[in-house]
Amino acid sequence: MELEEIVDPIPLFKQWLSEAEKKEIRDPNAMQLATVSKNGMPSVRTVLLKDIIDYDFVFYTNYESRKSNEINETGKGAICFYWKSLNRQVRLIGNITKVAEEISDKYYRSRSRGSRIGAWASQQSRELESRDILMEKVKLMETKYTDDIPRPSHWGGYALSPIEFEFWQDGDFRLHDRFILKPTKIKNQWIAKRYYP
Ligand SMILES: Cc1cc2nc3c(=O)[nH]c(=O)nc-3n(C[C@H](O)[C@H](O)[C@H](O)COP(=O)(O)O)c2cc1C
Repeated sequence: MELEEIVDPIPLFKQWLSEAEKKEIRDPNAMQLATVSKNGMPSVRTVLLKDIIDYDFVFYTNYESRKSNEINETGKGAICFYWKSLNRQVRLIGNITKVAEEISDKYYRSRSRGSRIGAWASQQSRELESRDILMEKVKLMETKYTDDIPRPSHWGGYALSPIEFEFWQDGDFRLHDRFILKPTKIKNQWIAKRYYP
């Protein structure tokens, strides 16, 4: 990346993601999502980036999961992408809100039947006594929904609206390039500054 005063992070992110899509062996859209409880205890897990709407990073999950409980409590999160094949990292922090119902509906409809059934059958992040119980629930849902499967109200999308980006590119002799981008007062204008690696 060139050092420029004004950089739009989204085209740059999309360029890095498309380069990762060509090189990563799987899931170039996998990202580590950190959330935090009201007591300040963080937790982190991998989710898949499914869309970028304007500046928002969208992922889908169970609205009753641990991450969702923490998002309900604090509304804040952090995302980290690491592409081993490129030795690049992108980090974001921001506020997380639910996406509009229609956006979740549209994405839910695009999923395979198995995934749609799975969203009904899984009580994500809650204790499961045996695998058989989950399989029973899957069977039950398959008989209940033979035709159209509506989106469960406990499943949908969230959008993280970034307030800061960091782009990190591996360099020789551990002199990595590291830029932090923060929004200016002008809409869609972000200022990039180089930081010590
Ligand atoms: C490659 C990969 C992709 C994943 N994608 C998602 C996802 O998009 N949404 C999701 O809810 N869980 C996804 N998971 C599972 C989560 O990492 C996690 O186990 C689950 O969401 C429960 O997290 P929680 O209890 O902290 O809420 C993925 C796991 C892996 C390894």
